[in-house]
Amino acid sequence: MTPLPKEGIAWPELKEQLQEAGKADVDWRGGRVPMFIHYAGDDVLDVAKQAYLMYFSENGLGLRAFGSLQRFESEVVEMGLGLLHGGELATGAMTTGGTESIFLAVKAARDQAVQRKPSMGKPQIVMAESAHPAFSKAAHFMGMESVRTPLRADFTADPDAIAAAITPDTVMVVGSVPAFPHGVVDPIPELGQLALEREVWLHVDACVGGYFAPFARQLGVQMPDWDFLVPGVVSISADLHKYGYTAKGASTLFFRDAASFAGMGWYFDKWPRGQYFTNTLVGTRAGGAIAAAWAVMRFLGEDGYRRITRRVLLTRARLQAGVARLGFGTFGDPRLSILSYGSAERDIAAIGAGMTRRGWTVGYVSNPDGLHHMLNLTHEPVVDAYLDDLAAAVAEAPSGGGERVVARY
Ligand SMILES: Cc1ncc(COP(=O)(O)O)c(C=O)c1O
Repeated sequence: MTPLPKEGIAWPELKEQLQEAGKADVDWRGGRVPMFIHYAGDDVLDVAKQAYLMYFSENGLGLRAFGSLQRFESEVVEMGLGLLHGGELATGAMTTGGTESIFLAVKAARDQAVQRKPSMGKPQIVMAESAHPAFSKAAHFMGMESVRTPLRADFTADPDAIAAAITPDTVMVVGSVPAFPHGVVDPIPELGQLALEREVWLHVDACVGGYFAPFARQLGVQMPDWDFLVPGVVSISADLHKYGYTAKGASTLFFRDAASFAGMGWYFDKWPRGQYFTNTLVGTRAGGAIAAAWAVMRFLGEDGYRRITRRVLLTRARLQAGVARLGFGTFGDPRLSILSYGSAERDIAAIGAGMTRRGWTVGYVSNPDGLHHMLNLTHEPVVDAYLDDLAAAVAEAPSGGGERVVARY
């Protein structure tokens, strides 16, 4: 039990305590953690921190009071829509993260469907097994049903399986760009066609790829259209605090038109304090996160994002080639920033334990079992060290498939 100190403690001592507390954390700067961090250089981090501190006390709930934040948010949304081919009618808003963007897309789709068909049963989301847990979390919180369909052999969503799972109560189908477990991009054009035929809302979860895939494509990475260019796509989630490289607490949710956007917000006035409206699930929002997103996007510009994307893509290619030399196969054909790999002849749990002993935080995927990486610039200098340790961990692991891994997020 930690009691509130009887008397306050001076900042120098607290600072020391904070520094001490972090010493046992993973060395993320040393590229030792395969997710949670999206680092794009100290210059970018500095811009994000300075901008955040300048608007540290301001509150995104009070856009009436803070015209600055209102302007930053609408410009962030416009910059994002420009990347994702949002037409004249497209719109959106910032949220505090991917999960919140997904919740609000689900809510908007549900509200629209229920309004159109008040007699419908329990509203349902249909998605591939690889879709992020946030969709099932949203369904659970909102009293909806979540249905997950098997993946194709290349680990992408199977439009036929999704088509077969759609019922009159389906309000949303989901495609991921990319899906987190294997980093592969779902067939959005096929899902778009299906959504139009069956009159359901297609949400594209580009929390990972929203601010990465556009630049990867500019650099020549081949992938089909996946954003608002695809008919049938109604909403897109894209996280700024991942490959937008800004402070945590920043995502964007975009809609094809104002009618679909209308379901994102929530209005209330049946209390003594007047009209209350938010586009977000949360009320108070860190002004710093909004200001930092605006500043980092403008600091990097298209050119800056492209330069970082090129380096992340090269890092993935080096890692992918290295694990192949050690006899592992990549799961599917990941073309962006995530890679998972494994081998049916190898004891993945023992290899992961060997990597853990060598100071790497290990991400796993299961069924089939493998190791998982979401890459950023902290990994660029340590690919060779990682591969050397992987070779050593393979050499000391027992041969054969071994125990099933327990994949934790
Ligand atoms: C594809 C995808 N969607 C959604 C999310 C959820 O984002 P957040 O953790 O910001 O809520 C993640 C997080 O990694 C993700 O990879």
